[in-house]
Amino acid sequence: MSELASMLRGRARAARDGDPVAAVLQLPRGRSGYARYERVRAAGDLVRGRGRLYMSASHATCGEVLRGRQFGAVPTAAAKLRLTPPRGQRSALLVHPLDDSFASVDPPEHTRLRRIVAPWFTTAAMKARAGFVERVVEDELDRLDRPGTVDLIDEFALRVPSRVICELLGLPPADHERFCRWGLEFGTLVDGARNPGEVRRTRTLLSEMADYFDGQAALRRREPGRDDLLEVLVRAVDQGEMTEAGMLATAEALLIGGFVTTSNIIGNAVVALDAAPGQREEFLSAPGQAARVVEEVLRLDAPAQYSVRVANEAVTLAGVDLPAGSVVVTLLAAANRDPGVFADPARFDFTRPNVRDHLSFAAGVHYCIGAGLARLEGEIALRSLYSRFPRLSQAGRARYCPSRVIRGPRLLPVTTRGAR
Ligand code: HEM
Repeated sequence: MSELASMLRGRARAARDGDPVAAVLQLPRGRSGYARYERVRAAGDLVRGRGRLYMSASHATCGEVLRGRQFGAVPTAAAKLRLTPPRGQRSALLVHPLDDSFASVDPPEHTRLRRIVAPWFTTAAMKARAGFVERVVEDELDRLDRPGTVDLIDEFALRVPSRVICELLGLPPADHERFCRWGLEFGTLVDGARNPGEVRRTRTLLSEMADYFDGQAALRRREPGRDDLLEVLVRAVDQGEMTEAGMLATAEALLIGGFVTTSNIIGNAVVALDAAPGQREEFLSAPGQAARVVEEVLRLDAPAQYSVRVANEAVTLAGVDLPAGSVVVTLLAAANRDPGVFADPARFDFTRPNVRDHLSFAAGVHYCIGAGLARLEGEIALRSLYSRFPRLSQAGRARYCPSRVIRGPRLLPVTTRGAR
């Protein structure tokens, strides 16, 4: 832990000394990072931090890293903790949704593992799910239909994607509260435990998730024939295509990835539309533009603010020679506001011509597997939300998810029968 403490002290000192990379890494959780990202942009396309750490706010450079074959996935900070199952855990395994799933593996192994679940996320698969998503949205909208202030996130934005991913994985929607707790905890701890208390919280979280999915997997082995995505994963293990640890981690990644970030499309959209009344009116008069609103929200406020890659060989990037082993933080949220790509980038404008050119789902082999699902849910949710409640408006300050990576309101008071 003293090594961790001295690393954190070093970063804090560097941030105070004006190092823009350290300033981003030191951002207090839950605070907007956009001002600090601009300092990185001002320092160049590729900015060096301490050691072999680099950071980029440039759309072109981030795209080159994410698509480049010389760059590979990086384990999260949790991997360094080498956590073991706590006493009392039923499952023998303690896995991390990102470190132990295909999210942290390079091709060709990545390709093989991703193919096991990919058929569930194709465009055709999404089309087949659209009716179900519509029904879930309509059902959940009823909860907002009341006078006074209501929290849009707990009462709607988290519930829709949670129910949808539960249906895909075959999990009981009644476990929603537990999933929300995990999602919030994961978002808080994903960029690294900062003290012994956070190390303990990380271990507890991973242990709870492992036990839960271990139980769900056992259920599918006892009673097969459910035709859900979790059963596909269990079968892959039993046929020797995936490890038991890989199965647990993939299920966890799909659950957590499947609803926390997606709920942020809805929360961030309501904040953005409230702050841009002209755009709000335009959307109200043309609800068929919901897909464009989703893209612009993703661009303006990336729900996953950055991704990290490592150079697996020596490479020249943005004119800089990087030795093998260099780590590059691609600031997706900043690339989305690159003034060379997006005119007036801090302005919300869903009519901009290149509204889909953002990097919010990353790019290259690790391009978000759930992008189609997130878009489908976002589009249906926003169209239905504003059609049913055209007077929907923010009724208090949003409180943001206490995370550096995940960006979106954790609490968003709204009124659905406002004075507009
Ligand atoms: C607004 C919604 C979402 C956003 C902004 C988002 C963002 C991202 C990003 C940036 C990555 C790449 C991470 C990296 O390479 O470092 C990613 C990958 C991934 N996402 Fe999403 N995601 C969203 C929704 C979803 C959904 C709905 C699911 C599952 C149903 C999902 C599951 C995954 C998985 C499994 C990966 C790993 C893909 C791979 O490594 O091949 N995500 N996501």
